[in-house]
Amino acid sequence: MAIPDALIDQIQNRVDIVEIISRYIPLKKAGRNYKAPCPFHHEKTPSFIVSPDKQIYHCFGCGAGGNVFSFLMKHEGLEFPEAVEMLAEKAGVKLPRYAGQRDEAGSMSRQLYDANELAAQFFQATLAGNRMAQEYLRSRGIGGETAKRFRVGYGPESWDALLQFLKKKGVAEAVAEKAGLVIANDRGGHYDRFRKRITFPILDVKDRILGFGGRVLDASLPKYVNSPETPIYSKGKHFYGLNVSKDQVRKTGHALIVEGYLDFIIPYQAGVHNIVATLGTALTVDQARLLKRYASTVVMVYDPDEAGEAASIRNMDLFISEDIAVYVAELPQGYDPDTYIKKSGAEEFRELIKKAKNLFDYKLDKLASRFNIRSAHGKAAIAGEMLPTVSRINNAVLRSDFIKKLSERLAVDEGSLRVELKKVKQDPGERYRAMEVKEARSTSKGAEKMIVALMLEGAELVRKVEEQLSAEEMENTSVRHVVQAILEMRRSRGEVSAPALINRLGHDDEATLLVSEAVAMSEVFGETDRDKILADCVAAIKRDNKKDRVKRLQSALKVAQDSRDEETVKKICAEMNALMKK
Ligand code: UTP
Ligand code: MN
Repeated sequence: MAIPDALIDQIQNRVDIVEIISRYIPLKKAGRNYKAPCPFHHEKTPSFIVSPDKQIYHCFGCGAGGNVFSFLMKHEGLEFPEAVEMLAEKAGVKLPRYAGQRDEAGSMSRQLYDANELAAQFFQATLAGNRMAQEYLRSRGIGGETAKRFRVGYGPESWDALLQFLKKKGVAEAVAEKAGLVIANDRGGHYDRFRKRITFPILDVKDRILGFGGRVLDASLPKYVNSPETPIYSKGKHFYGLNVSKDQVRKTGHALIVEGYLDFIIPYQAGVHNIVATLGTALTVDQARLLKRYASTVVMVYDPDEAGEAASIRNMDLFISEDIAVYVAELPQGYDPDTYIKKSGAEEFRELIKKAKNLFDYKLDKLASRFNIRSAHGKAAIAGEMLPTVSRINNAVLRSDFIKKLSERLAVDEGSLRVELKKVKQDPGERYRAMEVKEARSTSKGAEKMIVALMLEGAELVRKVEEQLSAEEMENTSVRHVVQAILEMRRSRGEVSAPALINRLGHDDEATLLVSEAVAMSEVFGETDRDKILADCVAAIKRDNKKDRVKRLQSALKVAQDSRDEETVKKICAEMNALMKK
């Protein structure tokens, strides 16, 4: 079923990574390469580089990297064949029918969405015939219309009712398993994941079902069972309910963020329509960026205990990096949005939202009650917690305004706050670039990566490396793996290219990231004499190997001496002498 390598290479050769990536982010020329702030993590100084010569991208900040296909896969959330197909058209390469999967019912994602859709229908039908489940929904205040709207269902008390239903509908067991709907047992069969649970489908903004959450009807544990991560479902990438609330979120320009299914459904039913739920997991940059398409302001509606937690507050900073204004609304102790609305009604709930504090003030108030704001140590501790938040504000005017406010609240001069602010601002790309050439060449870890970088410079260097080192001498498994792949590629194609190597190694794994990093590294080192670098790296690796062998021999020697094995002792000593002479 795979697309032939030759075709992939052909497409690779006909498209330009610079042109493709420029469609998504503005690239700036910097020497032989292009630079930009990384689209995959937040940063102010660009550590994302694209090499037109090597057709590779790499970020020194977050380590993301790969070829043009890897970029599309990561940026567009595509699978490899989908990325190939997307570029095939542009490259004017016709893919054979069996490989052109996107529109066929055969594509894996398509099959998983279809399986989930069938499962949702099954759960809904089961709910319609189950009094107990209906009674539970009634007890939670979920009306019939609401249940329909959110496609709430019920997974029956059976080990394989869903599995049998899916099979009858032509879904393969392996597909049902991949979708996370059933779980493999140790007899080679499968059983239903959502048994005796109310089911809540999780949809993306295109209304496709990604997975489910299932709640027990009583107090047993675990309270919720969720779909696992699957090829179509990554937990930190979506919000529950955004598919129905997005229009209202866009219209009002702000989104209320709550935690649970019921905390979404009950307010929504009560007329609060600009709301989304995180499903109890920590917020991610991907979620902030998704929400940014619809809203410029968010209001976190959290349990006061949790919202006050340092980790939870720190997490909210990521909205600030994305230029989203953050407010925090506190519910009375012991309530969540679901129970608060049931107690006080939607109007009171709206009032409480109106009184939300902006994150800066909220955080400062929390800290002021935790530390003594009049003591020097207290001030330093508060500044230490506040400044990372301030440093994330992109707008200089706003940033300055917050510094001023902080200086007033703490009664500390702005100058010292600015000095401290500088310290938190260093981004990882900066630190990485500060790394000396010397360091990469003198530690065997850096040296092994450099060797990969050198081998990607062309067949001549591959030959030179091969003369002096074998893959087995490399300590890092990924390096060994890549070196072997390079040698293999040279044998089969006569030449080595980094992007083609990545297509062979597979995308998004450690080996790929190593290739992109190695390429980026070689660019940093510029035109320095490659033979000299090679000699240094080989020496560093051999020296470390020698040290390792000496260590191993020493411990073997101790064992032999302890057991009075004269013969072995002699042999080890001879080996050590030989090693030392080298
Ligand atoms: P909560 O424990 O606050 O539950 O978890 P809840 O949403 O108020 O649930 P009800 O009101 O008792 O029905 C918040 C969210 O965290 C996730 C769920 O998405 C839940 O809605 N969660 C919680 C789990 O995934 N597993 C669990 O065992 C508990
Ligand atoms: Mn609840």
